[in-house]
Amino acid sequence: IISPAGVGRRVLLAAPRGYCAGVDRAVIAVEKALDHYGAPVYVRKQIVHNLHVVETLAERGAIFVDETDQVPEGARVVFSAHGVSPAVHQVAAERNLQTIDATCPLVTKVHKEAVRFAREDYDILLVGHEGHEEVEGTAGEAPDHIQLVQSPDDVEGVTVRDPEKIVWLSQTTLSVDETMETVRRLREKFPKLQDPPSDDICYATQNRQVAVKKIAPEAELVIVVGSSNSSNSVRLVEVALEHGAKAAYRVDYAREIDETWFHGVATVGVTSGASVPENLVRQVLELLAEYGFGEVEEIVTAEEDLMFSLPRELRKDLKAAG
Ligand code: F3S
Repeated sequence: IISPAGVGRRVLLAAPRGYCAGVDRAVIAVEKALDHYGAPVYVRKQIVHNLHVVETLAERGAIFVDETDQVPEGARVVFSAHGVSPAVHQVAAERNLQTIDATCPLVTKVHKEAVRFAREDYDILLVGHEGHEEVEGTAGEAPDHIQLVQSPDDVEGVTVRDPEKIVWLSQTTLSVDETMETVRRLREKFPKLQDPPSDDICYATQNRQVAVKKIAPEAELVIVVGSSNSSNSVRLVEVALEHGAKAAYRVDYAREIDETWFHGVATVGVTSGASVPENLVRQVLELLAEYGFGEVEEIVTAEEDLMFSLPRELRKDLKAAG
């Protein structure tokens, strides 16, 4: 479709997209810590999985480290939204670090479930991706009781001590459909498998997938703004392709968009992962307008108004300072 004046070219903009409540809280926690205590403030791992956010905070004086033992004794460190294992808390205590725990409360919820089921001596099947920080944190709560199941194909190799006493939990940012398929196969093998007390895949992950499913069938191309290590952003690309988009790409920045992607494209879908600030989406929309995709229709599949209060330690210090 060649439409030089942009006639017939449109953008379907998914909503909800972008920041979730857990990311918003974690980013504000680092900003407020920098304002209140002054730079540097150490942050263990990327506070949220977004390149732009990390670069911006680093410019303001946040120092990102991989491990807690890289933080100088007695310094202040923020734990990322993805959560940490008890072992990390222990190292921090040994080094007298002043910690601000920005773990998303919805990740903490999964940690608590793991602790509870481990205490009751269940075998816990954690659906999630090996090496992801959240999975490392959750698994660290009960390493002797948890085994990782990464995909439906993994199910075959799963063995448990007592098939009457098993529960599945999951990473918060997975594909809902793929997770359900993994669970279906697990239950085929272990009919007594228990469900988590409530959904572990969080509301934001679910809502963003529902929204992209709605726009994908009408879009020849879907652009997902998000970083390569952002699990929920990568899932959005997969979900778009599974639900009818002819092509789907993930970009950190508008400048990564390639003109050749638009050949034969009349409708572009746009969304963004839960760690992506809206200004990055705006930049993509501005670029799309230059290519003739100036007409933007927002497709809203849910309203979100959840907000989390700041980490306790920070709230206390801010309050004391008036
Ligand atoms: Fe929390 Fe879900 Fe966001 S677990 S950090 S609300 S993607």
